[in-house]
Amino acid sequence: MKKKVALLMCAVLAASLTACGSSSSSSSDRAASTASTTAAAETSTAADTTATTEAAASSDGTVANKDKPVVWFNRQPSNSSTGELDMDALNFNKDTYYVGFDANQGAELQGQMIKDYIEAHADTIDRNGDGIIGYVLAIGDVGHNDSVARTRGVRSALGTAVETDGAIDSNPIGTNADGTATDVQDGSIDLNGKTYTVRELASQEMKNSAGATWDAATAGNAIGTWASSLGDQIDIVVSNNDGMGMAMFNAWSKDNGVPTFGYDANSDAVAAIAEGYGGTISQHTDVQAYLTLRVLRNALDGVDIDTGIGTADDAGNVLPSDSYKYVEDERSYYALNVAVTADNYQDFTDATKTLADVSNQLDATAHPTKNVWLDIYNAADNFLGSTYEPLLQNYDDLLNLNVEYIGGDGQTESNITNRLGNPDQYDAFAINMVKTDNAASYTSILSQ
Ligand code: BGC
Ligand code: CA
Repeated sequence: MKKKVALLMCAVLAASLTACGSSSSSSSDRAASTASTTAAAETSTAADTTATTEAAASSDGTVANKDKPVVWFNRQPSNSSTGELDMDALNFNKDTYYVGFDANQGAELQGQMIKDYIEAHADTIDRNGDGIIGYVLAIGDVGHNDSVARTRGVRSALGTAVETDGAIDSNPIGTNADGTATDVQDGSIDLNGKTYTVRELASQEMKNSAGATWDAATAGNAIGTWASSLGDQIDIVVSNNDGMGMAMFNAWSKDNGVPTFGYDANSDAVAAIAEGYGGTISQHTDVQAYLTLRVLRNALDGVDIDTGIGTADDAGNVLPSDSYKYVEDERSYYALNVAVTADNYQDFTDATKTLADVSNQLDATAHPTKNVWLDIYNAADNFLGSTYEPLLQNYDDLLNLNVEYIGGDGQTESNITNRLGNPDQYDAFAINMVKTDNAASYTSILSQ
C-alpha cells in the first residue's frame, strides 16, 4: 500500500478506532519538520503521529539505512571480557534497543532452585554418603554475560563462589575431586541437623573444536568423561542451559537418577521434568520474542515506544507489568525469569505459545506490512531454534512484519554479515551477534 493511502485511511479510522496510536513526547521528538507537509492541517492528532513514520524519509520516500530501527537481541552488545555494555551500539540511532532478559535475577533464581531441591531431598541427595554434595557444571560461553551470570548465580547460592575484586569468579575449573581448585571453594549446607560440604567437582566451557559455544554434543561427551572419573560422587548436574543439560540428562543422569538443572524452559526439558530432570528457568521467551519485533513495529509506526508494551495498543495488546522491565539508560528491555520445577511445569509445556496478553492481530491498514531482516547467530542453537525463533514466527504475522530469517554457523560473524549485502531492501533489523563485541560489524554496514 502506498503511504499516502495509508495516511488517509489512518486519519479516517482514527476517530473511531484510535488506530494510529496516541501522541507522546517521545514520538513527537521523532517527528521531523517535514511531517507537517504530509499531514493536512485539519487532521487529528493521531494522524499527525502517523505522519512521523514518514518523517525520516527523504523526498523520494527512502530512509537511510543508518536511520532504520535496529534491535539487538539475546546477545547484548558488550565487552566479552568485562561485560561492560557497548553504549555506542545501543545508541546506534534513536530507534535502537536491546531485548533480552534479566540475567542476574534469572541466575539467582537458578541457584535458589537448586538449593531448594537439595533441601527438599535431604535424605537422598548425598548418593555415596560421603558427606559431600558434589555437582558438575556445564558452562555455555565464558565471553557471554548471560552464561557468566548463571555460573555466578549457582556458585553463589551453593556457597562455592570465590570473589576477586568484588566479582564472583566464573572461570571453568576443569576437575576438582579433592576440593583444591582456587576459582571455587567448598561450601557447606545444613540438612536435618547435619552439615554437608558442597563441592563443584568439575566444570568446563562446552565449546566444540570448530569454536561453537553452548555446544550440547560437547556436554553430552563431557558428562561421560566426568561420570567415569567421578562416578557416584556426582549428586547433581547443573548446566547454563537446557540444550547442554538435556544432552547430559539423556547421556547419563536420567539412567542414574541424578537431578539435572538447566535454563530456558525449552519444551523437551520441561517434559523431562516428569522423568527426573530437576528443573529449569523460563526466561519468558514469549515476552522477549514479542518485544524484539514490537520495538521495531513501534519505531516503524512512529508511535511511542511503550505502545503495546506498557500501554495497550489499538488491538488491546499490553504486557503484564511483572513480566519485563525497561532500563532507559541501557536502552534495554529485560524479560523477567520464572523457575520451572515439578511443582509448576504443567503450565510451561509448550514453549512456543505466544503470550495471550499480546496475541491480538494488528490492523493491516493502520500498521502496513514492513520488511525486517533478522539473524539467529547459530542455526543449531537449541534455545534459539526450538523456542525463540518459533515464537518470532508466530508474532511476526500478528505484527504485520515480513521477516527474513537468516541462520548463522555460530562461529563466524562474516557468515551472517555477508548476508546483509542489501540493507536497502529492509525497513528494520533484528540482530543476534556471534560475539557480543562485534556490533560494529553490523552498524558499519548500515552506516555505509
Ligand atoms: C540461552 C542459551 C543460548 C544462548 C544463545 C541464552 O540466553 O539460555 O540457551 O544458547 O542464549 O546466545
Ligand atoms: Ca556425595
